[in-house]
Amino acid sequence: MNAKQLAAEAAVALIKDGMKVGLGTGSTAYFAIQKIGQRVQEEGLKVTCIATSIQSEELAQSLKIPMVGFEQLERLDITIDGADEADHHLQLIKGGGGALLREKIIAYITDHYVTIVDESKYVETLGKFYLPVEIVPFGWQRTFDHIKTLGGAPHLRQRDNAPYITDNGNYILDCDFKTIPDPESLQTKLNLIPGVVECGLFVNKTQTLIIGYNDGSIKTHK
Ligand code: 5RP
Repeated sequence: MNAKQLAAEAAVALIKDGMKVGLGTGSTAYFAIQKIGQRVQEEGLKVTCIATSIQSEELAQSLKIPMVGFEQLERLDITIDGADEADHHLQLIKGGGGALLREKIIAYITDHYVTIVDESKYVETLGKFYLPVEIVPFGWQRTFDHIKTLGGAPHLRQRDNAPYITDNGNYILDCDFKTIPDPESLQTKLNLIPGVVECGLFVNKTQTLIIGYNDGSIKTHK
């Protein structure tokens, strides 16, 4: 079992009958969704879930995981999601997979937010991974300029030689801040810029960080 799968399966073991569960996005969350599907089918685990992306929703549906909409829930008991970087204070950079806005909306209604990563993502200080910032397409060049004044070198995310479009119809700027010693302050500054929808800093959201190691071990930080 690889390090991502180890972390994912340890997180899924936290899910109990009757829980409302947020499903993350990305290659680590993929393993979690697969394991939830297995528990639903083999153990009869009773859960209701909501996904952080169209991709994860389709995967969950294909595994016959019961899904609900926001009209049917106010809070989630647990969400299991990956990250691009996690620091020692459990602050995160997310959005490498482009789902940061839905991921953050779901993080903010979750009682127990569990982040799952392999060892390569656990860092001293955030910032080596370019920070994804979701922005509206209108006037994006000027939003780009504003972010530059905060010290981040933005790059418009591309796919097939065209701007990458999120599930919400927006663009993403991947911003090189080199190092982010104060994620909370940067989050506030970024989210005040007109045109910024949300940034990929997840500050004080993770209650449990599960790290999978290549030697087959896992470590949990709370
Ligand atoms: C998607 C995310 C992912 O959780 C993050 O990119 C990690 O992905 P992976 O598990 O594939 O490394 O934030 O928006």
